[in-house]
Amino acid sequence: MANQGDALRSWVKAKADQATREVLHQRLTGGRVLAVTSGKGGVGKSSLVLNLALALSERSQRVVILDADLGLANINIMLGYEPVYTLWDVVEKRVTLRDTLQQGPNGIRVIPGGSGITELARLDGVEISHIIEGFQELEGECDWLLIDTSAGISDSVLAFVLAADEALVVTNPEPTALADAYGLIKAVWEQDGRVALKLVMNRIQSREQGSRLGTRLTDLAEKALGQPVEFLGQVMEDPVVTRSVLRQVPFYTAYPHSEAAFDLGDIADRILHRVPPPRRGGWGAFVKRLVENWPREINRDPI
Ligand SMILES: Nc1ncnc2c1ncn2[C@@H]1O[C@H](COP(=O)(O)OP(=O)(O)OP(=O)(O)O)[C@@H](O)[C@H]1O
Ligand SMILES: [Mg+2]
Repeated sequence: MANQGDALRSWVKAKADQATREVLHQRLTGGRVLAVTSGKGGVGKSSLVLNLALALSERSQRVVILDADLGLANINIMLGYEPVYTLWDVVEKRVTLRDTLQQGPNGIRVIPGGSGITELARLDGVEISHIIEGFQELEGECDWLLIDTSAGISDSVLAFVLAADEALVVTNPEPTALADAYGLIKAVWEQDGRVALKLVMNRIQSREQGSRLGTRLTDLAEKALGQPVEFLGQVMEDPVVTRSVLRQVPFYTAYPHSEAAFDLGDIADRILHRVPPPRRGGWGAFVKRLVENWPREINRDPI
């Protein structure tokens, strides 16, 4: 029995050492930039971003969310607060990037993008440099920049995906959402085949349905487009997701024993345990690429 106890203790210690090494490795290699996007709207991007941030934070990751939906910012509504400053105020030089940070639950922080995202494109090289510096400074104290983008295959959504280190494409089981997810993957790779794409199937009725549809989509993408999309995970249809949106509290912390929270934990574990794609120069380089890729003609109505 003593031997079994010893074996168990050393197994637990080895696991803990490995987890610590992984966290340290992440810290040494700098913050990763993960864009979360979808072909079709309303499939669950914002819910995923917010709750994934909490799942990562529970795993000792330091997370900043960039709320970059150009239509309606969602993350602050889901957390039940009004942003004080947005990226727009940084573009206008009223405040620093750090001043825009909203404290969310469990140490996560949110940068409300607002109309500032679109306005980044009108800045010249010198003007943009203070924003780039702001992101570089934040990167030094973070492990993840998670970006909640708009839906669709517009040039502005593609600009985020093409600028990030990696992107997560969210879909649900509806044929239209699956077709739009495929369309988005194709559109990204037509522009740059090096972008690492991962798929999450949301709102599945059963695990069997999720794996079947997810595998079908990733197989199709690989056959037709010649490179793999990683099928990262799936999230069950779960009433706690809508309930938590109505209550303006994230389900990961409000309903920690729900199926959806379990699935988010699983997705966070997979992200952390897979070899990360090559870094592309950090957060400053991400902002530079975003501005370079940004479409010149876009609706600039303030949000
Ligand atoms: N796994 C789930 N189970 C049940 N309901 C869900 C699930 N995921 C998302 N929803 C519901 O779907 C709706 C849309 O979710 P969400 O706002 O996260 O989508 P979105 O992709 O960010 O939308 P948009 O494109 O408008 O930004 C919300 O009401 C949310 O509660
Ligand atoms: Mg959203």
